[in-house]
Amino acid sequence: SSAPRINPSILTADFANLERELGRIATADFVHVDVMDNHFVPNLTFGKTMVERLNEVSPIPLDVHLMISDADHWAPGYAEVGAASVTFHAEASTDPVTLARRLRQRGARAGIALKPGTDVEPYLELLPEFDQILIMTVEPGFGGQSFMTDMMPKLRRAADAVAASGLDVWLQVDGGISLDTIGTAAEAGANTFVAGSAVYNAGEPEAQIAALRAAAAS
Ligand code: DX5
Ligand code: ZN
Repeated sequence: SSAPRINPSILTADFANLERELGRIATADFVHVDVMDNHFVPNLTFGKTMVERLNEVSPIPLDVHLMISDADHWAPGYAEVGAASVTFHAEASTDPVTLARRLRQRGARAGIALKPGTDVEPYLELLPEFDQILIMTVEPGFGGQSFMTDMMPKLRRAADAVAASGLDVWLQVDGGISLDTIGTAAEAGANTFVAGSAVYNAGEPEAQIAALRAAAAS
């Protein structure tokens, strides 16, 4: 339907120079911001104070991916500090519908993320409550892992349900997205692509963003 969106993840950026690193991806659609709490995933990044400041200096809107426990409690705060989208993990919420409504009330797009082992089926009847669904194509926690091709049937199932609903729910993939894998994910129905190492380990991030966009569209 719409043009593919490329959301570089700053997880692989230089954390000592994040304002400069945001400037290097200004032609992207959103900047993907990975929040990890060393509990839901075995890695730690940063929290709401950092996200608020990143939003103030970023040339593009923030796509926040919360890999944190007790999302019901913590997620609304990220909408309050200006994140354009807030995606929480289904596995970390006891009441995804209420949480999604609270995110929308605070002006954010509401997203739900599924780890590789989590079935998408129970969430397909909740499509009207969400603006985006994130199908993880690696186990969350670290950049630079290999794309899980075996997630494609799940992605296809979600894409079929979104198409049948007539709703404009974005389908996002995150993990191992590169020029080699983005076409596979696009073919299975993704339209929003997170890429960390593929963008930030490239010599020219903006050229890489353009190449990824072209590869997703072809
Ligand atoms: C992984 C994060 C991803 C990560 C992707 O848990 O959610 O956003 O940055 O990194 P790559 O693109 O290198 O797999
Ligand atoms: Zn992510």
